[in-house]
Amino acid sequence: MKTQVAIIGGGPSGLLLSQLLHLSGIENVVLEKQTRDYVLSRVRAGVLEQGTQSLLREADVGARMDREGLVHSGFAITTGDDLLRIDIEGLTDGKTVMIYGQTEVTTDLYNARDNMGGHVLHETEEVALHDLETKAPYVTYKIGGEEKTLECDFVIGCDGFHGPSRQAIPKPVRAEYERVYPFGWLGVLSDTTPTDDELIYANHDRGFALCSMRSPTRSRYYIQCDAATDAANWSDAEFWDELAMRLPPQITANLQTGKSIEKSVAPLRSYVCETMRHGRLFLAGDAAHIVPPTGAKGLNLAVSDIWFLHRALDSYYKTGNETGLSNYAEKALRRVWKTERFAWWMTSLLHRFPNFPAFEKRMQNAELGALFDSKAAQTVLAENYVGLPYE
Ligand code: APR
Ligand code: PHB
Repeated sequence: MKTQVAIIGGGPSGLLLSQLLHLSGIENVVLEKQTRDYVLSRVRAGVLEQGTQSLLREADVGARMDREGLVHSGFAITTGDDLLRIDIEGLTDGKTVMIYGQTEVTTDLYNARDNMGGHVLHETEEVALHDLETKAPYVTYKIGGEEKTLECDFVIGCDGFHGPSRQAIPKPVRAEYERVYPFGWLGVLSDTTPTDDELIYANHDRGFALCSMRSPTRSRYYIQCDAATDAANWSDAEFWDELAMRLPPQITANLQTGKSIEKSVAPLRSYVCETMRHGRLFLAGDAAHIVPPTGAKGLNLAVSDIWFLHRALDSYYKTGNETGLSNYAEKALRRVWKTERFAWWMTSLLHRFPNFPAFEKRMQNAELGALFDSKAAQTVLAENYVGLPYE
């Protein structure tokens, strides 16, 4: 089989790129290891930046988001019993974020790919990338026990943190930077009324907590936990009790508890592979970088990579100009590092760090104080929260 662009991974990055390339008249095939049901069963964050919303609309997958998504113009940070509202709309000349789950984004993308007759192959095994340093790279894989070869002009690695694409870059030329945080997030999804109309990020002596939502009747909550925590060891009642203790009393008073419909632990990691291009291979999304979830930047950062990459490929196929492709890594990385900084900063600001020296703890308090007291500091937070520009 032959195509123009081979996309490894059918998560949000791969599907969005596939959709945009198709709209540009560029042939592409997506190879996804899992079934569609499996991909859609993964619960991920749900805060969409302005740029993410725009690109989804440009890709013709914004209609349901615009109907069902919740527009948020602010969120709260609490420390102990004190609460600060960050007026993101007021601080950014009218920008807002959209609450719309990643699962919904992925569902819309799959439906759009079906409707356009896009090529998305599921349950592909043993995907391997070849001849990336030539002008005729190809991908081999197995499907239904049969061995296949996909010839292409470019290979795009959208296969997440554990996929084979990044591993296809020889280790000596791969520049990687990583921080693993000494804690995780225990998350619960429940069909309960969210405790507030807006998100609440809580700094507390017992550890970080987050009140989020998916809809007016579905809540998503998280509490900081030990990285080795097994979600199965937490009963719903224990979770609600612990969450309640980490929120200010006026918030706890409104906390509606109920049966969890999903409960899982996510590790926290900052990671960047600066080698986002190797020959005819380009990495995008989680294949190239991971942010800790504080601030909900993972999906948004994947989408901005796809924005740069789609424009670069579009220009290459329309005019033969390779400038966009040559500049891709540099342009994407500039935004990646700024966003890494923001996610690292928000994580550092709000969590309890085991064995934190007293000085560091005082610095965290001082940082919170600076934020509570300074509109300028709140503006920097708001600008990052709604999303940095793509250029
Ligand atoms: N062959 C084919 N597909 C693979 C392989 C493989 N060997 N390995 C992984 N994949 C698929 C995964 O099954 C997954 O569906 O690649 C996809 C990668 O999707 P994501 O991990 O969701 O990454 P990405 O599309 O970049 O989306 C980034 O999603 O993961 C979250 O926190 C992340 O919100 C961020 C966003
Ligand atoms: C979520 O709703 O899952 C969520 C929201 C905000 C975050 C992280 C996760 O910062």
